Amino acid sequence: MDDNHNTIERYERGWLTFGLVMVVVFILLVGYTLVNQGGTVPIGVSRIDATKVRTQGEFANPRVEQVGNEYVVHMQAFAFGYLPSEVRVKKGTKVTFYITSPDVVHGFNVQNTNINVEVIPGEVAQVSTVFNRAGQYQVLCNEYCGIGHANMISKIVVEE
Ligand code: CUA
Repeated sequence: MDDNHNTIERYERGWLTFGLVMVVVFILLVGYTLVNQGGTVPIGVSRIDATKVRTQGEFANPRVEQVGNEYVVHMQAFAFGYLPSEVRVKKGTKVTFYITSPDVVHGFNVQNTNINVEVIPGEVAQVSTVFNRAGQYQVLCNEYCGIGHANMISKIVVEE
């Protein structure tokens, strides 16, 4: 009788624990999805004066630089294109993109990678990757930004 009662209690406690674990898992999943949004997480986002992007500072000179064994790209996503309009890097080398917008919100989506960044005027998005396959990677804007949105494309050329 008493044994039976204990068994039931243990059984209930088991389900209660299971329920709590599932709640925690659920919260973690939601959090993970919110943070990730299905792409590489942009990190180190900093503030910048959008009205000066074209004329002052690093982004006034959009470029690909080799820094040690890595590449650093300062990029403008603008209506309607990207500067530099083409990025050339070597395969297997880390590339860090710093991207900002001088006008409206744009996207920086690199096809066949998990890079999918929202580029917000007044903010610098940072994202790093290593291209392990040579070839051309198309860059697309996936935030509707106006009449030229569909033509806002660019490419990254990865060389052997
Ligand atoms: Cu830029 Cu859509």
